[in-house]
Amino acid sequence: MNLKEAQALLKRYNQEHLLEYYERLSDGEKQQLLAAIAEIDFSVLENLDFGKERSLGVLSPADALTLEEIEAKRGEYEKTGLEAIANGKVAAVLLAGGQGTRLGIDAPKGTFNIGVTKTLSIFECQMRNLIAVAKRAGAYPHLFIMTSTINNAQTVAFFEQNAYFGYPKGKVHFYVQKTAPAISTDGKILMEETYKPVLTPNGNGGWYSSLKEAECGRILDKENIEWLNVYGVDNVLQRICDPVFVGATIASGAACSGKVVRKVSPEEKVGVLCKEDSLPAIVEYYEMPDKQKTETDGRGRLVYCFGVILNYLFGVEKLNGIYKSKLPYHLANKKVACIVGGKKVVPEQPNGYKLETLTVDLVKLAGSCLGFEVVREKEFAPVKNATGVDSVETARALLEANGVEL
Ligand code: UTP
Repeated sequence: MNLKEAQALLKRYNQEHLLEYYERLSDGEKQQLLAAIAEIDFSVLENLDFGKERSLGVLSPADALTLEEIEAKRGEYEKTGLEAIANGKVAAVLLAGGQGTRLGIDAPKGTFNIGVTKTLSIFECQMRNLIAVAKRAGAYPHLFIMTSTINNAQTVAFFEQNAYFGYPKGKVHFYVQKTAPAISTDGKILMEETYKPVLTPNGNGGWYSSLKEAECGRILDKENIEWLNVYGVDNVLQRICDPVFVGATIASGAACSGKVVRKVSPEEKVGVLCKEDSLPAIVEYYEMPDKQKTETDGRGRLVYCFGVILNYLFGVEKLNGIYKSKLPYHLANKKVACIVGGKKVVPEQPNGYKLETLTVDLVKLAGSCLGFEVVREKEFAPVKNATGVDSVETARALLEANGVEL
């Protein structure tokens, strides 16, 4: 792209300020800036909902298989699930492209040492759980790991240094997710340097389209993988490729399924599995109207009670039918270091937005979703913050309660 083309493009999207410092740049920096502009998908800036609340359709509570119902059929589900894993029909997808700004470490979140007297990374906690399943099934599922341009090299190096935690290296495949520009509160793309726009990971919703376009997509097709268990890096008790979950999903005929826990209070900050206009939908805690948030049944239990824990199983055939649909971009209000008046500023308060697509929007597109209840104390120990709620401290306590030596 040459300067003239860049000027025309930026004018169309009202982003001419990206060239503000152009004349002062070295030739190399000029080239770098023009190349970066050429790479940006400016269409993501269209239809952004600044300050608008998402208008929700008609909400109703979603059903989920309860603990009792699962227990009654555990043997049957487990057998189906183990068979599918043994036959190579199930693979895992780890979402590790996030920046973990709330935890505040300058490294991929999965490398964080959750151990106390010994070293135990978040990645290792999760890999141990996956290895346990692989041993029972007699087969190691393929594991796709989504990273970002920011943390890919460090993530790959960490797996190398740790000999893949005992997992067969040939079954682990990394791929890099796409980026989106970060913007100011008035919609202008922020600059990281005078010659470099801020590009950040574009949320976890694009995990399948990025996977398909990478070498991983070829592996998926060649191996005839039918189910993908996608999960977040945050949860140190994450059960991956859980055979009972896999078996129950296959038996249900649903296009996808999601593990859920019962909310502990109306205010708990988890997305809730609901139905919106009869379709499965996950309504984020900040979007849920008070009426539904606090509604209780005759026994005083929350009606909208099933919180999601970022552990979903998606049928590949369904994903292939929906992944090209445009997912909406959500505005995540964050602190973004950027150039102001020619100088680098590291803000103390959120000063802009990162643009993110979300996996929850894929659930809606899938059309049907089986909720699958799990015991939160056994499967949900999120590490979002350094201290307080959903923190390193709370996750350590839950790991110990589950017999993990720290
Ligand atoms: P979060 O929503 O907690 O975001 O991610 P985050 O970026 O990790 O953390 P904060 O908000 O900056 O503190 C939930 C899951 O989605 C993944 C994360 O790695 C985590 O497993 N994720 C998030 C991606 O893979 N890519 C993204 O662009 C964002």
